[in-house]
Amino acid sequence: MKVIVSVGGSVLAPDLEADRVEAYASALEGLETDGHTLGTVVGGGPTARDYIGTARELGANEIELDQLGISVTRLNARLLIAALGERAAPTPPTNLESAREAMRRGDLPVMGGTAPAHTTDAVGASLAEYVNADLLVLATSVDGVYDADPSSVEGAAKFDSLSVSELVDVVADIEMNAGSNAPVDLLAAKVVQRAGLRAVVVDGTDPENVVTAIEGGHDGTEILPETDA
Ligand code: UTP
Repeated sequence: MKVIVSVGGSVLAPDLEADRVEAYASALEGLETDGHTLGTVVGGGPTARDYIGTARELGANEIELDQLGISVTRLNARLLIAALGERAAPTPPTNLESAREAMRRGDLPVMGGTAPAHTTDAVGASLAEYVNADLLVLATSVDGVYDADPSSVEGAAKFDSLSVSELVDVVADIEMNAGSNAPVDLLAAKVVQRAGLRAVVVDGTDPENVVTAIEGGHDGTEILPETDA
């Protein structure tokens, strides 16, 4: 299968533990050995939020804050590149074309962000559309998509599956400031919708969940293209 994996910075680099990044690299290498073709995108996590918070206090505007966030996503991407060694393209591709070229060469591209006003989930969805991926895996710090924010709403319920238009409705009302906290950003949901992509949201804190998202048996949320819903 051709799969794009978007790994939240909060799951890959909540701190700078080498073991965690190493475990991700091993899971991705195992998937490639099993015959899957992969592309990856890495988020900025708490480090991006810290930088964005400080720069916001200093008066930076939202685009400037997004640019800071993008820089941190690329730093995190370089951690995963370091762990993947020869299998990875040596620098994080800064646009979709370079990532696609890397995949065609047989390298594993590890992207960070690309342009302001969205998150790496949207980059992952766009790359998945661009390379005609069979599946987009969103490895996040929550274990799926909920009908309300589970960190603040008691009794929020997790979807085992939902249609992409239901996903768009769930995320449409969430704020989109730099560093915002949506399970999937609205642009990502819209790209998944127009591309007719199959997507899965899993708890990425255990990279094994990325493996089961691809090979079967995951307990995250399946996002169904309209025709299957
Ligand atoms: P992330 O993609 O990491 O946000 O980008 P996230 O998904 O909320 O966080 P984690 O990693 O899953 O915890 C961090 C910030 O960088 C900017 C945005 O400000 C975003 O909130 N960003 C990132 C962009 O502006 N464009 C991009 O392509 C990527």
